[in-house]
Amino acid sequence: MTLKSSRFTLFSLTAIFTITALIVSCASAPEVPEGTTLAEAYENHFPIGAAVAAGEYSFDSFARYSDALLGEFNSLTAENAMKPAILQPKKGEFNWIPADKIVAYAVDHNMRLRGHTLVWHNQTADWMFTDSGTQDEQRAKAMDSLRDHIAAVMTRYKGKVTSWDVVNEVVADSPGDSPYRTDSPWYQAYGGIGYVREAFEMARAADPDALLFYNDYSMIDPGKRQRVLDMIDELGLVRDGLIDGVGLQAHWGLSYPDRTTLRDAVRDFREAGLRVEITELDIICDEWDQELLADRYENLFTWLRELSDDIDGVTFWGVADDHTWLTDFHGFTNYPFLFDTEGNRKDAHRRVIQAA
Ligand code: G3I
Repeated sequence: MTLKSSRFTLFSLTAIFTITALIVSCASAPEVPEGTTLAEAYENHFPIGAAVAAGEYSFDSFARYSDALLGEFNSLTAENAMKPAILQPKKGEFNWIPADKIVAYAVDHNMRLRGHTLVWHNQTADWMFTDSGTQDEQRAKAMDSLRDHIAAVMTRYKGKVTSWDVVNEVVADSPGDSPYRTDSPWYQAYGGIGYVREAFEMARAADPDALLFYNDYSMIDPGKRQRVLDMIDELGLVRDGLIDGVGLQAHWGLSYPDRTTLRDAVRDFREAGLRVEITELDIICDEWDQELLADRYENLFTWLRELSDDIDGVTFWGVADDHTWLTDFHGFTNYPFLFDTEGNRKDAHRRVIQAA
């Protein structure tokens, strides 16, 4: 047998073995039973959540979506109902109705609840501040208002809302004059970033059993992530046991972040002693790119499953394509989720189930 013919024999034997192994592996891949929900598929990895509304801005997820569709998830977040502007629009005047409806549904259906959010520059309540007086007087007014608000809200939902986005989006998007969002009414009333620590102290006092998170977008970017880590370190939030984790908002695209970028972000926060949740997942996508969306979600959930020892939850910022903030924000109709405008499973859903 010449060298050439023996090489051919070896190559063909290798090819036969490889193809056989592939056939066997595909055949042996456990078929996911028809009808498996997202929560079931990922029950050994992390909770799968969705942001819901209860009529606080005319849209009501519970009127719009079936229990079967909502049953795909085992965790809920209030898209708007638990924000100060909705909950306490005027001092002492609470609008508990939409938030209570979300809490009641989650309790009735044994779903986890994430609270969103106690301190944000958006959708806050004007009465919490005063634009007159000294800096000390403005700081005192804002902190007294916040302390009362946090105590009232976290006491009401203690034992039901088990984690809170205490503070949302206070770090600057780019390294300008300040690492912080200085146009925030909270920053201006306080005269600096110290309100963030005070908010976590108030939340820890209000419900010592709740997990307390800092939530923000673009923390996948190393620069913003470092500014967040520097703030957490500067304020001693981990050192003094005031924070439990960070929420990566995950308003992502069809190609960014990639696996390495995601893995690095999770690693950095875990090494800082912080829990990590994906808190507001949606993928910016128009109706023509749905096959790309399916590919993207399969890859994303493969990576998230690989990181599941370091991820405590994955929450979509909505349920189905009929209701997403992305459309208003980007000015074109977005189809970002795993369920179409009628609440039917898209191919992306099947691919995410397979990725489990
Ligand atoms: O639908 C009503 C409309 O009937 C009414 O005429 C109009 C009057 O203003 O309001 C409409 O409601 C809008 C609502 O979205 C619709 O869901 C509100 O104006 C609008 O303020 C609200 O925007 C919310 C946005 O936060 C506010 O900044 C989005 O729902 C909500 O998804 C979005 O969520 C934020 C997170 O809390 C933090 N991370 C970023 C994320 C996206 O901005």
